[in-house]
Amino acid sequence: MFDQTEFNNIRRKIGKDLLILAHHYQRPDVVALGDKIGDSLALSREAAESTAKYIVFAGVRFMGETAAALAGPGQSVYMPEPMAGCPLADMAPFEDVKQAFDTLTTLRGEQPLIVTYVNTNADVKALAGATGGIVCTSGNAVNVLKWAMKQGRQVMFVSDQNLGTNAARVLGINPGEITKLSVTGQVENEKAAASARLVLWNGYCHVHTFFRPEMVARAREQYPGCKVIVHPEAPREVVDLADEWGSTAGIVKFIEQAGPGATVVVGTEVNMVTRFAQNYKDRRVVPLAPSLCPNMWSTTRSKLLSVIRDFPENKRITVPADVARNARQALQRMFDIQD
Ligand code: 13P
Ligand code: SF4
Repeated sequence: MFDQTEFNNIRRKIGKDLLILAHHYQRPDVVALGDKIGDSLALSREAAESTAKYIVFAGVRFMGETAAALAGPGQSVYMPEPMAGCPLADMAPFEDVKQAFDTLTTLRGEQPLIVTYVNTNADVKALAGATGGIVCTSGNAVNVLKWAMKQGRQVMFVSDQNLGTNAARVLGINPGEITKLSVTGQVENEKAAASARLVLWNGYCHVHTFFRPEMVARAREQYPGCKVIVHPEAPREVVDLADEWGSTAGIVKFIEQAGPGATVVVGTEVNMVTRFAQNYKDRRVVPLAPSLCPNMWSTTRSKLLSVIRDFPENKRITVPADVARNARQALQRMFDIQD
């Protein structure tokens, strides 16, 4: 059970030693309890820059792991629901990524450079970091991929194939130079894989592949003059029909800048869209379709309260020291590009 008075009392007692981070896709009543609200990367940076002893991340597992990898000595990261995973991250398990990396290395005679989407587990980020690779987010995927393509090595983009495809199109990479791995990371066509400049992992986010081109057509019919923005994890055919595509932070900016009276149709997680609809009463913000992330939804206010009562060890997120060190290298390369 959630008790607001108890929450307020504990929150006041712990004071600056506690930082509560809430991802935009969380339930609105969880977001309301966050000290900082943001996308996965912004929140991890908040964690890294904070001096709080206890960092509570209301989000999914790869986000808690990223915060734990970036946390300083004396800081501990907790999740109200540590079992909240991300199916997209889980579609790129370390063993499969390593196997594909080794196969490509053998085929080409040199290691590919891994660009790993932030939606991957810490061990995959660590493999990237240890082999000269880099992390990207949906917000900087184009810039990071541009940097990676200039390094003169074959690029292996893990985990979201739609993000990789959408970013590659912006950069004008010839589709003939791109090859796709099977969903389990198998190289199906050795000749194509050996000659490709860009190799895409075949992961996807069910929340965003739910969006279909007909939904965009229907929205335009229902809201003449509306602007449609979708997340780049959406399929290419949907991105093509939208006015804009944007990361979580990019979507927030787009809604903010739309101005009073505008209608913005948004193709991303429904909790975020409905919360913005309520926050911006002077414009209409509507979901392209109601698509919910059940993993984000599994965090509740009661679970958040139960963490801050006594910070139980089973809610603590830890990453082995060597994995954290290598993952930090891949994250740092990304920060160096965007800072
Ligand atoms: P952000 O990295 O933009 O927060 O997105 C996370 C996510 O899970 C997108 O589906
Ligand atoms: Fe993972 Fe998709 Fe949920 Fe984001 S919305 S946490 S990518 S399942």
